[in-house]
Amino acid sequence: MEKLILLLVILSSCSFSVSSYNVSSIFIFGDSIFDAGNNHFNKNSSAQADFPPYGSSFFHHPTGRFTNGRTVADFISQFLGIEFQKPFLEAQLAVLNGSRKDYPSNGINFASAGSGVLQATDKDLGVISIQQQLRQFQTLVQQDLIDKNLVQKSLFFVESGSNDIFNYFLPYGTPTLDPDAYVQAMLAEVVNLIDQIYELGARRIALFSLGPVGCIPARAILPGAPVDKCFGKMNLMVKKYNKGLESLVKDMPMKYLGAVGVFGAVYDIVQSFRAIPARYRFSDVANACCGGGTLGGLLQCGREGYKICPNPNTFLFWDYFHPSEHTYKLISKGLWGGKNSRIRPVNLKTLASTP
Ligand SMILES: *[C@@H]1O[C@H](CO)[C@@H](O)[C@H](O)[C@H]1NC(C)=O
Ligand SMILES: *[C@@H]1O[C@H](CO)[C@@H](O)[C@H](O)[C@H]1NC(C)=O
Ligand SMILES: *[C@@H]1O[C@H](CO)[C@@H](O)[C@H](O)[C@H]1NC(C)=O
Repeated sequence: MEKLILLLVILSSCSFSVSSYNVSSIFIFGDSIFDAGNNHFNKNSSAQADFPPYGSSFFHHPTGRFTNGRTVADFISQFLGIEFQKPFLEAQLAVLNGSRKDYPSNGINFASAGSGVLQATDKDLGVISIQQQLRQFQTLVQQDLIDKNLVQKSLFFVESGSNDIFNYFLPYGTPTLDPDAYVQAMLAEVVNLIDQIYELGARRIALFSLGPVGCIPARAILPGAPVDKCFGKMNLMVKKYNKGLESLVKDMPMKYLGAVGVFGAVYDIVQSFRAIPARYRFSDVANACCGGGTLGGLLQCGREGYKICPNPNTFLFWDYFHPSEHTYKLISKGLWGGKNSRIRPVNLKTLASTP
């Protein structure tokens, strides 16, 4: 009996660590939607979520993730049956101080909260720009610190642009470009990034659309933004950017020989939650669970004077900028196994199953 139990324990731990898919690693680039602690390990950065109550619903302690639990990258890792990706700066520290021999084989998370696709976005917050994230990855590949075969098989997740568009509407630092030109400048940076990760061996590339950034509680900070409905002007820019991303994905098979691109329609996924909240077990799709002031959007969660709702996973928004873990879980399910309206031309499960 004891032997049987031991065997079952061994079998179940095996099935957790060995992926049944043809993908066992994910490389992640982007902002706070994906940041799993890079900013925490980057002492330069003032964009932080490494204090309570961040992480409280799942990890039961802060990890640097900007939500109450797991992110989309974490959920997809669980669906694949692999461990969560470590922040690059944490892995680098461990390799440098000798506490680990190699970089992890399940991928690396380079995302940095506050960053955008434009180099200048939130530079004053000491964030790691997406261009710098790319250079970190490039160095690992060029110095043979990560296996090139692994890179070829890996999923690449790219999600960035919310901070560029949000900042466009900040009252100081008048933007020099009109909205269309600004979006085109953003897309040019994405093209550059994709060109380079392809050069470095990426073959399964997922570009995620921005969510409806004009609906986040933090819009209450902006002069002229409505609080009783989403900020239409902002969502218009977001939709233009998303359209551009989707057309990049459509061009991928022709432009990048041997690469497969997918477009995750996060905007539409989130809009379906907002349209019928009860179907998705949301009690509130407008306010931040954790924060303060109008919409809970004027104060960061965990800062002096904040308030928190009793059940974070009944709120679409965890804090002023970010979804709750429940929202991320639903988004992840849509991206993993969803139909064409969620992710196209194929979903992540199919992408991970191809040889
Ligand atoms: C922090 O800032 C210093 C000086 O500006 C810079 O040399 C260093 O690369 C930065 N660290 C990170 C992780 O960005
Ligand atoms: C090395 O760095 C890792 C990752 O930050 C840390 O967990 C570990 O305690 C460090 N070890 C030493 C000996 O400093
Ligand atoms: C992985 O790829 C191999 C071919 O290399 C294929 O036979 C197999 O079905 C794939 N595995 C999964 C889980 O789809």
